Amino acid sequence: MPGPDAAARSARLATQIHAQIAAHGGWISFAGFMETCLYTPGLGYYSGASTKLGSGLKDDSDFVTAPELSSLFGRALARQVAEVCALTSPQVLEFGAGSGKLACDLLAELERFDALPERYCILELSGDLRARQQALLEQRVPHLAQRVQWLDQLPDRLAGVVLANEVLDAMPVHLMVWPQADTAAGWLERGVASGPEQQFVFVDRPAEPRLHKGMATRIDDALEIAPGYLTELNLAAPAFITSLAERLDRGALLLIDYGFPVHEYFHVQRHRGTLMAHYRHRAHDNPLILPGLQDLTAHVDFSAIAQAGVQAGLELLGYTSQAHFLINCGITELIEGDPSQPAIWLPQTNALQRLISEAEMGELFKVIALGRGLPDGLLGFRRGDRCHTL
Ligand SMILES: C[S@@+](CC[C@H](N)C(=O)[O-])C[C@H]1O[C@@H](n2cnc3c(N)ncnc32)[C@H](O)[C@@H]1O
Repeated sequence: MPGPDAAARSARLATQIHAQIAAHGGWISFAGFMETCLYTPGLGYYSGASTKLGSGLKDDSDFVTAPELSSLFGRALARQVAEVCALTSPQVLEFGAGSGKLACDLLAELERFDALPERYCILELSGDLRARQQALLEQRVPHLAQRVQWLDQLPDRLAGVVLANEVLDAMPVHLMVWPQADTAAGWLERGVASGPEQQFVFVDRPAEPRLHKGMATRIDDALEIAPGYLTELNLAAPAFITSLAERLDRGALLLIDYGFPVHEYFHVQRHRGTLMAHYRHRAHDNPLILPGLQDLTAHVDFSAIAQAGVQAGLELLGYTSQAHFLINCGITELIEGDPSQPAIWLPQTNALQRLISEAEMGELFKVIALGRGLPDGLLGFRRGDRCHTL
């Protein structure tokens, strides 16, 4: 159970959401609910005071990401960042930089092989995380911290590397349901209404035409879908890619997240969707409880990301699993020491195992590169490229 301060913050946010529901005639879309839960200034999960990311061993965090797990992730990624910067422009823009750990690891590694970017910008929606990022950079890489700038909005023009690790999965999704009966009218949208005792409840309504249109681009033959099939439609992520593509002069978007190509995402057997809540390192499927205190996330439809980029004029430069990407970037060569020194060796090999094992993050997580003005065959995609699956 949350402590009294956290419970009081969550209750304040719940009151705001009930008011929002009432102001919209008793129902809001799940995307609206998710947006409010994650990003309401001061009270939302990302914009409020929750610890959010961490190892979970000594803190009260909710989930761990690859950069938090080990510096090996940022050090391997630095090789891909250096290659793109050398071929285009020495600039990095990182979205949603979390605790700032990835920025610290990337800058330190890029300095090690004399490839520091001229500018390292961070665009972070959360004021709380921005303060944590500034503090961590000052503590870990004080001599490099002045290279980092925080932006309040997307710049008009972009060049170099645009990086986002686990950002697309934090964008609000619409919940879509195939009706139990009377399928002639097609998809329903699952939204949120106020229930008894200040609870939130799901209520399904006929979907708006733009959502029918969106689903028609994802699933060819709705006839095969079982009654009650539940999935998500993320309209925010492709729109985000389009706005980056329109601004990118020369360089690459490098996006890392958990997800699948379209045929796996909307597979008939994935009938309960991918939406999940994370609270204190427990993943569960009730997004309606603990508003503002738990992370809400859905897997990424990487085909939709690729299509949005290509339609906006970018080239698809690579798509592969996190394991292939990191191995191509030389992660296994970064392990220091040898097995005769277990205190040094084992923590590194343990982290490596979690980053690249198929049973952990290696296969579920993918890396996609979309860009302009770059040749094919980027370092991270030289072996095991899967662009053909998108
Ligand atoms: C799961 S956390 C990942 C943090 C970090 N990248 C990491 O790997 O540890 C998601 C982050 O994405 C940020 N985010 C979500 N949508 C965003 C957007 N449109 N622009 C910038 N940041 C965004 C959130 O504020 C949060 O910092």
